[in-house]
Amino acid sequence: MGRCPECGGWDTLVEELIPEGDRFEAPSSPKGAPALRPESITAIETLEEPRMPSGIPEFDRVLGGGIVAGSLILIGGDPGIGKSTLMLQALDGLARSGKKVLYISGEESKGQIHLRSRRLGVSSETLLVASEIHVDAILSLMESEKPAAVVIDSVQTMYNPELSSAPGSVGQVRETTMKLMVTAKKSGVPIFLVGHVTKDGAIAGPRVMEHMVDTVLYFEGDGNHIFRVLRAVKNRFGSTNEIGVFEMRGGGLAEVPNPSALFLSERPENAAGSVVTASMEGTRPILVEIQGLVSRSGLGNPRRTVLGLDSNRVALLVAVMEKKIGMNLSGLDIFMNVAGGVRITEPAADLAILAAVASSFLDRPLPEGAVVMGEVGLTGEVRGISQLEGRALEIQKMGFSHLIVPDSGARRLKKIPGLKVSGVTHVSQAMELLF
Ligand code: TYD
Ligand code: MG
Repeated sequence: MGRCPECGGWDTLVEELIPEGDRFEAPSSPKGAPALRPESITAIETLEEPRMPSGIPEFDRVLGGGIVAGSLILIGGDPGIGKSTLMLQALDGLARSGKKVLYISGEESKGQIHLRSRRLGVSSETLLVASEIHVDAILSLMESEKPAAVVIDSVQTMYNPELSSAPGSVGQVRETTMKLMVTAKKSGVPIFLVGHVTKDGAIAGPRVMEHMVDTVLYFEGDGNHIFRVLRAVKNRFGSTNEIGVFEMRGGGLAEVPNPSALFLSERPENAAGSVVTASMEGTRPILVEIQGLVSRSGLGNPRRTVLGLDSNRVALLVAVMEKKIGMNLSGLDIFMNVAGGVRITEPAADLAILAAVASSFLDRPLPEGAVVMGEVGLTGEVRGISQLEGRALEIQKMGFSHLIVPDSGARRLKKIPGLKVSGVTHVSQAMELLF
């Protein structure tokens, strides 16, 4: 049935496995079994999860400091972004330390995997590969080989014969994930599940997969940019919002240990509309360039095109500029971009967005060496931001000399050699300082 007779939705029916016997039988009361007794939270023994380093520090950091034994990790991303490449390189890192690891592909033949491994310079004898789509065959292979880690590439190609639906369907994907989760927990072997993401951003198949796994990582970056960002969106064993930056080269993915330098490398000097700010990505501050372009509009309804930033936020800031600093932006097109294809969502970039628009509007570049940070409220007040010190240190490290930040933070900030710090309380004060 393509259409649900109950809700009328199309393609919403999911195949379910009914266990043998009457599934609606009431659970037999556990006579004789010891009564369930809760424990005091302080009495529970905590086990420090053992973590395995993958040999790729950027990858380990996103995972929260290495691979946790028995964890099920989902790696999502658009086709062609580099998931298989990353997984093969991570397994190679593990294999180099003498561990036996297993790479199972349902998409490529062993020959194709070999070709890729040659290109990547992967040559560990303990990296085993198999081309298989039957989940049960994979589970028995895991049992006999006892690997230290397993990659399943991809979950959409896996097949359970108990279900009649095709691989990639909701039922199949869910069943596969369930079986692998049970296996990972029972055996203590970490399992990486590669999943393709559909165009609208959801992992093809059920969203429920994200609830079942321990960690969800997204590998993103658009095809036009050489670098890729690995982002943790769920992590039972570490912080989310942690990112790892990679660059796709001819010989595979290379880590970018200093993303600030990369993102700022092509920044124009002394150009109006270009503002540098520090954005927190997980535990790490990264300097990025925000660009604004304001030009006379030929349209009755001027354009507001925003890439890499929240367009609602930009609209709000433009309104603040008009009302609170008296900049007349009506009738002007405004284009905003974050250089390098980065995406910034935190409000700490507000003041920088505002400065970029103002700089382009006035056609005057910011003072040399200036970096701008701060959240802006609707009355034009500049509000404090988190982790100012970490950001300031990164800013100094990257050779900038003047920091414009919320006044509350400026007063608390310890002196950093070579960095002049100016605190502002209102956007008009920031404008005066900058232009
Ligand atoms: P791949 O890992 O196959 O992507 P996914 O598994 O996410 O679908 O990576 C595919 C792209 O990466 C492919 O278009 C070619 C490029 N690539 C390189 O540029 N260099 C390399 O060394 C490799 C292996 C791939
Ligand atoms: Mg692949």
